[in-house]
Amino acid sequence: MKNANRRRRAGRDTFSSSFGVLVALAGSAVGLGNLWRFPYLVGQNGGAAFIVIYLMFVVLLGLPILFSEFIIGRRSQASAKAAFQALAPGEKWGIAGILAVLCCTLILSFYSVVGGWGVEYLYKSVCLDLTRGDSDHLANLFSSFASSTWRPLVCHTVFLAATAGIVISGVKNGIEKFSKVMMPLLFIIMIAIAVRSLTLPGGGEGVSYLFKPDWSKVTSSTFLAALGQAFFSLSLGSGMVITYASYVKKDANILSLGAQTAASDTVFALIAGCAIMPAVFAFGISPGEGPGLVFITLPYIFGQLPLGEFIAILFFLALLLAALTSSISIMEVIVAFVMEEFHVKRRTSVLIVFLGLWLLGGLCSLSLGILSEWKIFGKTIFDLFDYISANVLMLIGGLIVVIFVGWKLSKQDMRDELTNGETLHVPDWLINFLAFLLRYIAPTAIIIIMVSQMLA
Ligand code: PHE
Repeated sequence: MKNANRRRRAGRDTFSSSFGVLVALAGSAVGLGNLWRFPYLVGQNGGAAFIVIYLMFVVLLGLPILFSEFIIGRRSQASAKAAFQALAPGEKWGIAGILAVLCCTLILSFYSVVGGWGVEYLYKSVCLDLTRGDSDHLANLFSSFASSTWRPLVCHTVFLAATAGIVISGVKNGIEKFSKVMMPLLFIIMIAIAVRSLTLPGGGEGVSYLFKPDWSKVTSSTFLAALGQAFFSLSLGSGMVITYASYVKKDANILSLGAQTAASDTVFALIAGCAIMPAVFAFGISPGEGPGLVFITLPYIFGQLPLGEFIAILFFLALLLAALTSSISIMEVIVAFVMEEFHVKRRTSVLIVFLGLWLLGGLCSLSLGILSEWKIFGKTIFDLFDYISANVLMLIGGLIVVIFVGWKLSKQDMRDELTNGETLHVPDWLINFLAFLLRYIAPTAIIIIMVSQMLA
């Protein structure tokens, strides 16, 4: 058994360089979470106060959990479930891996639908259909598309098939090469859009909405939404970081990789906020518009930019690619699990996963139209999958991770991974502080926020 394990680990795919790892990790983190989910949650939760709480969670909880998932993945060199089993043989921790796979399944189901919206909007921008009309026209355009039956289904299929195609080619050829080109391009386009939005006449109100906290709007659900978004955006508690970290070489510096991943993710989210909120106010759209916000607001900005048609095409192309670098990482968690559990080849595993997700995603898509009356706990399937994954399963996954690294692994194990067996210098106070956050602060905070929401 040990030999088999060693053989499998020796033959495991790895990322070819630390830049490649960083780009793949940042590629996973930066996606629809930043460009689509963050701006509309900011709008629904009152603006700056939500952002401040979000940033606090990223630093105090997100980063330590990111490091912990790195430690678990790289130390075990195995995917989500097998990783826990390898580090704590014979114990029940593998359940966390199963939860992670379930979580990724729910996420990718609705993620692929939103990715499909990206496909449609790329198509619309190529047909020069986007940069005309007022806010009502753009809002109608979005809602009539998203609630229709066939078109969103076709787009979801295209997006999911593209994801599966990249995942089939494995880590080096697919995921890594792809991410290296797209992330820098997206960054440049987002900056250009943000600059235009911030200088729009009438955008000033949006700027103060983004930067002046109004604490009277904060409730327990603001905290839950901010924590869920921090997890969603950093891809935590979903087994994804564990799985990618298992492909990371033993000499990579976990602390700096984690910090750089979190920093790029946060910068992208903030730029997306700056790109969207001023335009929302300038255009007279309601900030609480919900999931359609980005798709309604951005075409307006494109209309205000020189060469707007061309920028719209570039933007939706980059949005799609950012979504793909994330969706491949989500699918990889499920595919790696199916391969290891059922001993099937990558191709077979991808095919099974594709079919399952195609069905679930189809349900999510229809739940915005003909199935909108089907409600569970008062939510459509789309909203339910989003809520359960980000606000429940990822948080439980993160909780298990911090308890595992904080209490089950020894501080020496943690030190060993963070310093690569004492070859890197990491000050003692930093390791002690991290251990303190992981043992006490992170579990308490996650539990309090989840429980207070249940009681609210
Ligand atoms: N972090 C990704 C985004 O912001 C979504 C994601 C969630 C990716 C979970 C992997 C795992 O779009």
